[in-house]
Amino acid sequence: MEGKGVYSVRDIKEGEVIGVFGGIVIPEEEIDHLTRTVPAEKLNIDHAMYIYPGFLMLHDYENGCDPLCFVNHSCDPSSKITNGIILIAIRDIAAGEEVSWNYKETDDIGNWSYEFKCQCGSPNCKGMVQVGPQYRVEANAIRN
Ligand SMILES: C[S@@+](CC[C@H](N)C(=O)[O-])C[C@H]1O[C@@H](n2cnc3c(N)ncnc32)[C@H](O)[C@@H]1O
Ligand SMILES: [Zn+2]
Ligand SMILES: [Zn+2]
Repeated sequence: MEGKGVYSVRDIKEGEVIGVFGGIVIPEEEIDHLTRTVPAEKLNIDHAMYIYPGFLMLHDYENGCDPLCFVNHSCDPSSKITNGIILIAIRDIAAGEEVSWNYKETDDIGNWSYEFKCQCGSPNCKGMVQVGPQYRVEANAIRN
């Protein structure tokens, strides 16, 4: 896995709230302006996510990262995001296990796009994590 990740320090039960995301909410059209005006290492666009169609939440780029910034994607995740910002366990998570969610479930809903090679290591790993309109068009073309 690239970079940092979040690991449980105790047993977590299915359905438990692991954390609540916070940050700076913007309409998705503002992302281009912000990428031009805020230094990339501060904005850290890798730590953004959709919280509602048309609205992205960026991490708090004035004050820096929250631990939840470091929750990685998995194709076989241990948690999910509900109500836009609440990270909740979708199965029991043992102490020492990685906390993850499926980024496609939150982020593949708008014009913001990204891709990276997935290193989640699960047997059903999809290989690439691709979100954004261009990938949805490709996927539909393959299906049709
Ligand atoms: C919200 S951050 C997660 C924390 C990140 N690992 C870090 O150290 O800042 C999202 C970024 O982490 C990396 N990442 C997350 N899940 C990954 C995965 N399953 N395989 C490879 N890279 C991953 C990607 O670069 C992605 O853009
Ligand atoms: Zn962050
Ligand atoms: Zn994967």
